[in-house]
Amino acid sequence: MSYGTSVLGLGSYLPEDVYNNFYFEQYVETTDEWIRTRTGIRERRFVRDGMATSDIATLAAQEALKKSNLKADEIDLIIVATATPDRLFPSTACTVQEKLRAKKAAAFDISAGCSGFIYALACASQFIENGLFQRALVIGAETLSKFIDMKDRTTCVLMGDGAGAMVLERTDGESQLLSFYLGADGTGGQYLELPAGGSHLPASLETVEKKLHYIKMDGSLVFKWAVEKMVLSGLEATRRAGLDLKEIDWLLPHQANIRIIQSVASRLGFPMEKVLLSLETIGNTSAASIPLTLSQSLREGKIKDGDLLLLLGFGAGFTWGGAVLRWSGGKNERE
Ligand code: UT7
Repeated sequence: MSYGTSVLGLGSYLPEDVYNNFYFEQYVETTDEWIRTRTGIRERRFVRDGMATSDIATLAAQEALKKSNLKADEIDLIIVATATPDRLFPSTACTVQEKLRAKKAAAFDISAGCSGFIYALACASQFIENGLFQRALVIGAETLSKFIDMKDRTTCVLMGDGAGAMVLERTDGESQLLSFYLGADGTGGQYLELPAGGSHLPASLETVEKKLHYIKMDGSLVFKWAVEKMVLSGLEATRRAGLDLKEIDWLLPHQANIRIIQSVASRLGFPMEKVLLSLETIGNTSAASIPLTLSQSLREGKIKDGDLLLLLGFGAGFTWGGAVLRWSGGKNERE
């Protein structure tokens, strides 16, 4: 018996507090014009003190469960993709399991940076399609604001907080997830990292003084890799789905920089009208960017039943990935 995966519903959560580009002028030498033209970002949202990744992941998950007409104890598996977990351990997924009271669910995190949602989706669908689990909750959630150095203009203006969740269910019919392609290259690890706080460099007074508990990035190097690997992921995922790029209705790339997205779209032959975007108002939300953009595009009524979506990710690791999704149902998404 072979099974497929269907998408039951989506949920999203964005913090209430909006920070526009002018906010950063008090901390670093930057301008709204530089940020808008170099990144495409106009504003982003940050959580308030006391709110952790598991809190916003839980809020997104509750909405996804509601739209799927499911109770938390009907979920068999929770995967949280995040680069900003509540703690090193236990996993954020276990904390979400507790907050949802999803008593039946196995739970774990995936650490794949901004590609995390695609990795998590691939992972959940394997469990579902081999028959181990019937229903899974896949969440991308980040509180990047807690890990940015407000004195580092090369990173602080880029990030935003948010969470997106998707409920998947086993089906005897055709899978909505048509293909996956995943890749990694650890030699890129040093160019996008949070250096201290792990076993390699445990937290100490010195690591804090040197600000090694904040995100460090070589932006222009990451930029070039992101373009190259998202293009590769797009070609591979489409080929594995047995499709031609021309048959794809929507390109849904990770939202890090509008210039990266334009370059990827142009190399894959997509006009920008066929690219789904959310970056201008939410910034780079890492593992949350794909489900957040999908939710927003559904609310806007852009995606129709039967549309083919090409999801692309690139992030810390380096990691990258692509997935082809045939949209169908998501019953209550346009309400
Ligand atoms: O989510 C996956 C991981 N992240 C990404 O994919 C991000 C990838 N990288 C990027 O988006 C871009 O590389 C950045 C937006 C980070 C930087 O844009 P860039 O066009 O690559 O600029 P650059 O790093 O080459 O810097 C150009 C100049 C530098 O000044 P000098 O050295 O030429 O004097 C930077 O110091 O721009 C300066 N700069 C800024 N100026 C004003 C860097 N950040 C800022 C800033 N405001 N916020």
